[in-house]
Amino acid sequence: MTLAPRPAAWLALALTAPLAAAAQAPTALAASTLTIQDVAVLAGTCANCHGPKGQSTGGIPTLRGQDAGHLLQRMQAFKANRAADATIMNRLMQGYDDAQIQALAAWFSQEVQP
Ligand code: HEC
Repeated sequence: MTLAPRPAAWLALALTAPLAAAAQAPTALAASTLTIQDVAVLAGTCANCHGPKGQSTGGIPTLRGQDAGHLLQRMQAFKANRAADATIMNRLMQGYDDAQIQALAAWFSQEVQP
């Protein structure tokens, strides 16, 4: 693809940029109103490594029943690439926003299954 520096192309870009930003606002809003089903789906992907319901059967840490603050702090550290022990979680957490990370921390801190 070649980028032709035609004035019209730049004008079109300048005009659509604010629209694109506005279009993203509802998405960010929706992320903070996650339903329990949304969180269940997100948490389901963690079971592949962290064990069924987050209770590990191997060397990967158990999530279930850990303090929510600890889980949150760990996931935020992974996302920010501040966890020295990270092998995979630092890359994985890039795909989750703050609301999802908070919801996952709350989810796995619960002892009883919803
Ligand atoms: C591909 C395997 C894999 C998947 C999928 C995975 N994890 Fe992890 N997780 C790990 C490993 C391995 C570690 C240890 C740190 C590292 O090596 O990155 C870890 C560590 C953690 C820790 C730190 C636990 C502690 O006590 O220090 C948290 C919290 C965590 N994962 C949350 C999650 C959540 C939430 C999900 C799902 C969104 C998830 N993980 C999905 C492999 C995985």
